[in-house]
Amino acid sequence: MKLYDVYPLFDINIVKGKGCHVWDEKGNEYLDLYGGHAVISIGHAHPHYVEMISNQVAQLGFYSNSVINKLQQELADRLGELSGYDDYQFFLINSGAEANENALKLASFYNGRTRVLVQEKAFHGRTSLAVEATHNPKIIAPINANGHVTYLPMNDLPAWEAELAKGDVCAVMIECIQGVGGIRLVTPEFMQGLRALCDQYNTVLICDEIQCGYGRSGKFFAHQHTSIRPDIITVAKGIGNGFPMGGVIISPKFTPEYSQLGTTFGGNHLACAAAIAVLDVMKQDNLVENAAKVGAYLMEELKKLPQIKEVRGQGLMIGMEFAEPIKDIRRRLLFEKKVFTGVSGINVIRLLPPLCLSMEEAQEFLKRFKEVL
Ligand SMILES: Cc1ncc(COP(=O)(O)O)c(C=O)c1O
Repeated sequence: MKLYDVYPLFDINIVKGKGCHVWDEKGNEYLDLYGGHAVISIGHAHPHYVEMISNQVAQLGFYSNSVINKLQQELADRLGELSGYDDYQFFLINSGAEANENALKLASFYNGRTRVLVQEKAFHGRTSLAVEATHNPKIIAPINANGHVTYLPMNDLPAWEAELAKGDVCAVMIECIQGVGGIRLVTPEFMQGLRALCDQYNTVLICDEIQCGYGRSGKFFAHQHTSIRPDIITVAKGIGNGFPMGGVIISPKFTPEYSQLGTTFGGNHLACAAAIAVLDVMKQDNLVENAAKVGAYLMEELKKLPQIKEVRGQGLMIGMEFAEPIKDIRRRLLFEKKVFTGVSGINVIRLLPPLCLSMEEAQEFLKRFKEVL
């Protein structure tokens, strides 16, 4: 059987990782400024993570959500404490798209409505309503184009107010730092205005923190730079450091009902062990603070480079926009300088390294990057 060919691949086979480095099958070492697409939060093959997963799988990998799983509560307690959302509720699934599907479903159960507002250039996933909420007609199949979603300009509060005032909007879904959309940031004023409008019109405010959350922005959640509290927060990517997981963090104003949401694999024992290990390491090694510190340094240094048109970002979520296409720079970084980076559109390079990136590794990246420019 052939693989279904949907990914344009680099001809590199990564077989090993450690911290912020990965190795291919030929033994070449790469600096990882991409984190496997913002997924590797605590670094590759962290010993505590390896130990926790190994012990758990030797004990019990999976049992169903029809019995008590104490690891789920332990994870929720740790996450509540570290994120500042102790009073919220937690529902576990397996991916980012699934988190957003469940968030939108909850919002619709809550206020009975079906309209959703998202930002232009939004990316919320590739399934059903999550893909409809993604501002890219190329990936929305006719079966997903069901007219639920309106796309609005980022930070243009009057445009959002005009829609919200119609009184029929179920939810607004926001990436406080757009990832796929090119590392674009909301303003605190916009988010505070949106929060007030959502309260006024009984619309559910959802922050999609799948890429910008879990410490990446230098605070636990990117929306915490704007001093608001959303009604629902969705997480995935960094939560399991590569173990496939997603989560929905839900305000106390939502009352759960049996069977309203459900999943076979979500929150299984092995996944919870991985996620608890991630939080252990994040806390112990102060990775949120590290992301803030190393990210600020990188941004400051990158802003000195005249070849870059604009540097945007927060913490270790950084976009470098060039006047011209970046394909060649990115290829040379990878093949000549052995540095993995991400991309957005044709002229933005995205940096999404593990949150444990050291100052020395940041300096090493800058050195190799300047050699390519
Ligand atoms: C902001 C955002 N939301 C949702 C998703 C979808 O997550 P997943 O690929 O785990 O379904 C992504 C993935 O890149 C994302 O960046």
